[in-house]
Order: sequence, then C-alpha cells, then structure tokens
Amino acid sequence: LFRHDAFVAGEWHGGDRRVPVTDPATGETMAEVTRCAPADAERAIAAAHDAAPPLKASLAGDRATVLHRFADLMAEHTADLALLLTSEQGKPLAEARGEIAYAAAFLRWFAEEARRAYGDVIPPTKSDQRLLVLREPVGVAAAITPWNFPSAMITRKLGAAYAAGCPLVLKPAEATPLSALALRVLATRAGMEPGAFQVLTGDASDAAPLGKVLTGSPLVRKLSFTGSTEVGKILLRQCAETVKKVSLELGGNAPFLVFEDADVDAAVEGCLVAKMRNGGQTCVAANRILVHAAVHDAFVEKLAARMGAMKVGPGVDEGVAVGPLVDEPTFAKVRAHVADALELGAETVLGGGPHALGRTFHEPTVLTGVGGEMLMTREETFGPVAGIQKFTEEDEAIAIANDTRAGLIAYFYARDVGRVWRVAEALEAGMVGVNTGLVSNTVAPFGGVKESGLGREGSQHGLEDWTELKYVAIGL
Ligand code: SIN
Repeated sequence: LFRHDAFVAGEWHGGDRRVPVTDPATGETMAEVTRCAPADAERAIAAAHDAAPPLKASLAGDRATVLHRFADLMAEHTADLALLLTSEQGKPLAEARGEIAYAAAFLRWFAEEARRAYGDVIPPTKSDQRLLVLREPVGVAAAITPWNFPSAMITRKLGAAYAAGCPLVLKPAEATPLSALALRVLATRAGMEPGAFQVLTGDASDAAPLGKVLTGSPLVRKLSFTGSTEVGKILLRQCAETVKKVSLELGGNAPFLVFEDADVDAAVEGCLVAKMRNGGQTCVAANRILVHAAVHDAFVEKLAARMGAMKVGPGVDEGVAVGPLVDEPTFAKVRAHVADALELGAETVLGGGPHALGRTFHEPTVLTGVGGEMLMTREETFGPVAGIQKFTEEDEAIAIANDTRAGLIAYFYARDVGRVWRVAEALEAGMVGVNTGLVSNTVAPFGGVKESGLGREGSQHGLEDWTELKYVAIGL
C-alpha cells in the first residue's frame, strides 16, 4: 500500500520531480512522491473524460459491488492504512483506525445509494405526452481534499462520485498524499476502473497550478473541495468561468454552548471530543466555548483536569491522545492565537505553551476570559486550545454564537426541552449537536451554511450534488 507515484491516465506516474512527505512526529522523510505538472492534470482529465461514458452506462449494482469490495479491503488493511495515516498526519493510532472505519463506511453507504438514484415519472398535462425525470451523473469531477482526514474526506467524495457514475480526478493535500495513493491501490484490487479515480500529487507550490487546470477545464463538470474558506472562495471564482457544479466544505469556527441547566460532566466529555479530536485540527472543532456563569467554574475545572490528563506524544505510541500538529504553519497559528489572547487579558488555566517534546507538539491548553476581539474567537485555532467565554443570558449566547460568517456546526448542552428546540432553531449552522460533541455520521448530511460551504456530503442527499436531473418529455 506504500506507493510514492501519482496515478494518472491508468498508470503509476513517477515523473522527474519529487516532494518529500514528512512524519510530523519525527521530522523524518517517509517518502518522496511525484510532483505532478499541469500537463499531468490535463492528461488525467482527458482519461477521466474517456472513462465517463462507460461509467455512466455501467449498472448501479456493479458499481455497488466494487464499492463494497473496496470497503472490505479497507477493513482488511485497517492496521496498515492507519499506520500510514498516523505517520504522515500525526493523529493517534486509535483515531486513525477510527478514521479508516469512517472512510470505509462512506464507500458502503454510497454503494447502497447507487441503487437508489431514482428519477420521477410526472403525471402528464396532455394525454399524448409522457413526462420523465432522469437522474444522470454530472460527468468528470475533480476533488481537492485536506490533510486533517486524509482518508475519510476522499471516500466521502469518491464513494458518491463512483456511485453516481462520475470519474474523479483527486488532488490530495500535499502533507498527506500516501493515504490517497494507498486508496488507489485498493481501488484497483476492488475492480475500480483506472479512469474512474486518478490521484495527482504535488507540493504546496503545485496546488495553485494544478487547481487552475482542474477548475478551468470545460471537461470537468464538478468540483468538490474540503479545506479553508479562503481557498474555497478562490476555487469558486475560478469555477465560475465554466459554470461548474461546486461543493464546498469550508471552515467552521464552531460555537460550543453550555447552559446553566446542562449536565456539566456530560458537557465536559462532549467538549473534549469536539475540541480535542485530531488535536483540535477539524473543521467541526469547538472553537468558541461559551459557558453560563452559574456552571463556568465547575466546567473549567473539570475540563482542565480531563485535558491535563491527555498524553501528548507521537501518534504511534501507546496511550497517546494528542499527537503533533501537522506542520509548522499550523503550530505557528496556534502559538499566535494563544499569545494574542494572553496579551488581550485571557488567563491560563492549563498549559499555554509548546510541549516539552518540541517540534510541533503543543500542550493541551485551557484559557478563560476569552473575548470576541481575540484572534481565537474570530478565526479557527486548529489546535488543542480551549478558549472559554462566560455568558449570563440565552439570547446573548445565541448572538455571540451567530456572530461569525461561518456556519458549519454548533454544539450546545441543555436539558430544558423548550430551550433545546429554541436554541437548535436559532443557531445559524448546517449541523447542530445537542448534548453531544460528535455528529459526524455517514448517514447524515454533512455541510454548512453562510461562508462554511455549499452542498451536503454523506446521507441520502450526498448523491444529489454528483447528479444532474434530465427532464424528458415524450410525445406519443
Ligand atoms: C472536517 O474536519 O473537515 C471533517 C470532520 C468530520 O467529518 O467529522
């Protein structure tokens, strides 16, 4: 499964330029992968274009069989896939194993959805006509995926694309190409056609030129991107020129509210998951933690105790709960957010600094007295730092929670059933976690409102973005 070459036009493609892939826990180079050029992206698009008609004509049941086999292979190779993922990304092995199961579940889900891509028969308005709506694949699709979930963010797109009958050209994150290449190996073993899934690897400086080819080509009819809001906006603008279908899953800046009627222990456990999954490096990470004054001190004390007990270290080590941050820029951003908050009056309850292990390891950190003017409330921190604000009124908490251009997810803890409905409806987010810190699920629609994105992934709605409706009126 350990491949270093890109996969273009039906072949493993070495090319003449390489980029190192680094283990964030050790700084060691794990592999040197192909740096694809714009011409490679053009070749991949042409191969996908050739693959599109037979894929469209293939039977949904046959595509479902391939996706199920693919998921079986992922399950069979969980240990290797998880080790590869942890080595290039840094998350603890237990979390990596969880991600492989999550990733495989998308393949299984879309295997079943492939069989249910129904159209409609419309009662005609004239006796000599019959009206139908067919659901067809969009055509050649491109995907650009992030480093924080190097496997699951691929299968969430690839599973839907293949189920719908769309060939996919993938550009995985430069930090984590090895998981993507391993998936291509398993796709081949599962029987997936070469042109149905191609992988363009490259370094950070290749991302813009490759992205331009993918967004600029009139042959590509859809782009699906998971990543930063900033990059998402650039891609959306670039796709306007060829009027592509675009799905975007962008930044979250999620609020996490704890009301005075909450079960504080449960809220602490939920916050731990929402904040600390993948060391805080998720789009759905609790970023602005708002706690009612009546339970503030108890919540802070318990959260600090739980976070303080988390073992920091290389993800492959036994018992590690917090791995290194993925790279230097991510670490530098976390440092800048903490420094800014402390300068503006926040107080340190736990941690606050780089971890003694060095590199990009950061101490689990709890800060109180965090306010709306601080960087860590205006932007996603993407690290193991819980910044806590105090509130006293429900309306005030909702207003603060909604005071952002993002709207991916919001969490809150409360027991009053009236409040549960009121707050769930008032929060401006595509997803709301009530008394839970983890909502991600293959069977539910994942996606945001406002500047957090367009479209939904997973669930019965996840296939829609990869299909077009064709209305057929038949005169008799
Ligand atoms: C993300 O952080 O982009 C996705 C997280 C998830 O699927 O839970």
